[in-house]
Amino acid sequence: MSQADWKYMFKAVQDNDADILNYYIQQGIDLNFQHPEYFTSALIESIRLGHHRITQILLENGASPDICEVESDKTARQIAEELNNKDAIRLINFYSGTNASPQEPHFNSNKSLNQNMKAVICTKYGPPEVLEIREVAKPEPKDNEVLVRIVATAVNSGDVRVRGLAVEGWMKWMMRLIIGFSGPRKSILGTVYSGIVERAGSKVSSFKTGDKVFGMTGFSFGTYAEYITVKERGNIAFMPKNASYEEAASLIFGGQTAIHFLEKAGIKERKTPKVLIIGATGSVGTAATQIALYYGADVTAVCSTQGKEIVENAGISQIILYDKEDFTKQENRFDIIFDAVGKTSSKQCKPLLNKGGIYKTVGGTEVASESREQLEFLKELYEKGLLKAVIDKIYPMNQIVEAHRYVDTGRKKGNVVLKISD
Ligand SMILES: NC(=O)c1ccc[n+]([C@@H]2O[C@H](COP(=O)([O-])OP(=O)(O)OC[C@H]3O[C@@H](n4cnc5c(N)ncnc54)[C@H](OP(=O)(O)O)[C@@H]3O)[C@@H](O)[C@H]2O)c1
Repeated sequence: MSQADWKYMFKAVQDNDADILNYYIQQGIDLNFQHPEYFTSALIESIRLGHHRITQILLENGASPDICEVESDKTARQIAEELNNKDAIRLINFYSGTNASPQEPHFNSNKSLNQNMKAVICTKYGPPEVLEIREVAKPEPKDNEVLVRIVATAVNSGDVRVRGLAVEGWMKWMMRLIIGFSGPRKSILGTVYSGIVERAGSKVSSFKTGDKVFGMTGFSFGTYAEYITVKERGNIAFMPKNASYEEAASLIFGGQTAIHFLEKAGIKERKTPKVLIIGATGSVGTAATQIALYYGADVTAVCSTQGKEIVENAGISQIILYDKEDFTKQENRFDIIFDAVGKTSSKQCKPLLNKGGIYKTVGGTEVASESREQLEFLKELYEKGLLKAVIDKIYPMNQIVEAHRYVDTGRKKGNVVLKISD
């Protein structure tokens, strides 16, 4: 074990990240080591932070509650008592056998610790090569959650942005604050999934074992993995009956983003609106063109020559090829301009708007919000044949690095699917 490894393990304790902690435990890290720069132990840090699950994992794996911290010369037991941290005291008593009437603590991790799963882990920001496949603890559903065996996920533009911390200026600091300082706090990336309910918590009534579901986890991430637990009332719905797992996984990211922005632009309220979609060939763009057509819009699309066929296949005939023509020079005017790739500015596009028209872009500060209603809407459109899945490539899980490299180009057409299991 190197001191650098210990620092990563300690960071997992601070970030409350059981997956990474378990990884270092499996590598045989010394949990009682005190790093010369830190003057404390992992166990004491978890007690101070109130990370009970982490405290339990550490105790279960041999961290001693009776070793003195260099800084205060107090043991973990004394510190837990001083802080009146009753959960930590109960755990210490339980694992050191001093509980008068031994009682299982509520953080029952035994089941998940003994059953592992494969996941793609990202412990620091960087190029695709920072991603690694590791064995981590399989999650346990709470009473109000379902355990989903993931069959497919997608590698989206958002995932590669997070992995590479690919944002400009002050946004970098904002992102570090929200997602994690030196690497993502939630080390398993991925936000969309399709799969099968393996187990439902005791209070779950809408889903049962065997149901095919799809959904979005947003900033909770976690879908580059064989399993995930999801709240019954979360962003989860039954999969479209006629979709494969790959198709279902590819509908979500672009679909939910496109619904958000087009609805904010008032597409539902406008009668046969004239809509310009810039960047019609990405995940968001391919969904946006189809959804706009569903609402009866007269759609014009901006794409490259390479993407023309995809746009034509979606039923669009008014196409401006941005590598041949400047779309801002056209005579047409629009009720909605949606930049689905974030390459334009409002100043550039405003002259193309009709009176009362609106410009929306994925490239500004507005962040799409996701809901179960959007998923149900996508399911309905897909089942009625009004929405098609646009899949560029499918990679197996062990080619996650190649998949990220491809999405990093910013030139994928539609969606890149990551197949997790059969
Ligand atoms: N604000 C939000 O809440 C939100 C939500 C989701 C996504 N986003 C952002 O939205 C952007 C698009 O996401 P995505 O997942 O759809 O991306 P994507 O799937 O990676 O697609 C990019 C597509 O845009 C095309 N493109 C590149 N440059 C273009 C240009 N100048 N004009 C027109 N088309 C161009 C590319 O094809 P060619 O190179 O062949 O043209 C490619 O097909 C990303 O930056 C993402 O971060 C924001």
